[in-house]
Amino acid sequence: MQQYYVTTPIYYVNDEPHLGHIYTTIAADVLARHQRLSGKDTFFLTGVDEHGQKVQQAAETRDIEPIALANQVVARYESLWPELSISHDDFIRTSSDRHHKAVQAMWRRLENAGAIYKGFYEDWYCVPCETYWTETQLKDAECWEAHQCPDCKRDVEKVQEETYFFRLSAYQDRLLAYIKENPDFIAPESRRNEVVSFVEGGLRDLSVSRTTFSWGVPVPGDEKHVVYVWIDALTNYLTAVGYPEQENPERWPADLHLIGKDILRFHAVYWPCMLMAAELPLPKRIFAHGWWTVEGEKMSKSKGNALRPADLLNQYDADVLRYFLLREVPFGADGDFSFDALKVRYNSELANDVGNLLNRSLAMLKKYNGSVLGEVGEEQAADRALIADVEGMQRDVDELLERQAFHLALERISSVVKHGNRYVEDNAPWALAKTEDTARLNTVLYHLVESLRLIAVQLSPFMPEKIALMLSQIMNKDVDVNTLRLSDEAGWGQLQVGHQCQAPSPIFPRLDQ
Ligand code: MSP
Repeated sequence: MQQYYVTTPIYYVNDEPHLGHIYTTIAADVLARHQRLSGKDTFFLTGVDEHGQKVQQAAETRDIEPIALANQVVARYESLWPELSISHDDFIRTSSDRHHKAVQAMWRRLENAGAIYKGFYEDWYCVPCETYWTETQLKDAECWEAHQCPDCKRDVEKVQEETYFFRLSAYQDRLLAYIKENPDFIAPESRRNEVVSFVEGGLRDLSVSRTTFSWGVPVPGDEKHVVYVWIDALTNYLTAVGYPEQENPERWPADLHLIGKDILRFHAVYWPCMLMAAELPLPKRIFAHGWWTVEGEKMSKSKGNALRPADLLNQYDADVLRYFLLREVPFGADGDFSFDALKVRYNSELANDVGNLLNRSLAMLKKYNGSVLGEVGEEQAADRALIADVEGMQRDVDELLERQAFHLALERISSVVKHGNRYVEDNAPWALAKTEDTARLNTVLYHLVESLRLIAVQLSPFMPEKIALMLSQIMNKDVDVNTLRLSDEAGWGQLQVGHQCQAPSPIFPRLDQ
């Protein structure tokens, strides 16, 4: 069976989950569900990043141990993911034994490959960004005078410590060649170009150990050093698939690392170079999505305006949020979250289009034929056009999700729903019901219900709960969307003549503007 492995970033435990964290996880979940539906042996990984100075400091301010802080935030994620219908196969914690083993094994592997050496470090460090800056970089960014971080504009600290370096510079040419030979490796294209110019600008060896704090994985054989948090964090993608018990894990490489644009360099430069040094295959694709603002403003800890899952879930069903987040903004672009936009999108596409098509079709079937699908007559051009559109949708959605174009996939499904509603108007079952032509009436109703079934199947990765309800009305039994497979479901004509549907019950009731 073909395999598919998708990951999210692992989230820092010095912050509570917010919109940014749920966004990537929902996107990954839709892909995982879509791949399972397509019959692939899918592995979907998410988790938390527990180590590092930031977490240690956050714990100190609260006067608790870092692990206690981590446990609190982990509990939040563990209760949040089911509420959002996240179907991850594994949740990794970097404080776990399995991960310690993996990080230390990775370190040794890099060391044995001659890619790690001991040296001395003198530089400028931004604690919140966990990034080192050279004097030249600060000068170039006009941050030298104020000693500010070029990214976040907060103060940088001067640091001087004994450190291990990773020979990043040695992989510059190989990485560039790889990126050029593999056009789909980094997406979207603008991000790929960014990475190319960064690498072309020259790679410096990377400091990969710290002696200034202790909350992390000790460097094997030199325990006063702690492994740099990004080496630690990135290795999680291997831990979860059985490294180092399996030296070259069977599930590796990942098919897709989904990340936000701010952590692109770590994933598209440092990580591939580490893997090259370790002689492990590179992930097949890295997709960096954009950032959300909320009601026009940047979310920030200082403003305290971060949108929390509870703010969303006490107003909207998880599925509606899932739909909105992936429909509203092209994946890869930045976007703005607003409750008004959500309501507009909900009313127009979910209530008016999908909800209406389902309700009116099942209502007419009930009214004209006791909810039973009658004998289908000869197909007309309009029927064939609808079938062709449904079949085209199935191919297109698959192709669009292969390249993480969620908004286009939803738009494509939406276009079939609109087609279905037009088909109702054009074929006017209410008028047919007044004639003797029951064959035509049955044919039209059959085409509607069968289209709805196939639309639901395609929507199920996006809205698993709502679609389970929709399918149970159509199939007249409980439907477990997790076990649906396209190989069983996707063919036109699976619904049998004589099948009885349920009476409609609205799943997307209209909201007042
Ligand atoms: N721990 C690292 C990732 C290590 S992966 C090996 C980390 N954690 S994080 O918790 O700070 O951020 C996780 C993700 O949240 C990032 O992908 C980031 O882009 C995303 N977001 C944070 N704020 C965001 C928005 N406002 N909008 C969209 N995503 C954002 O980085």
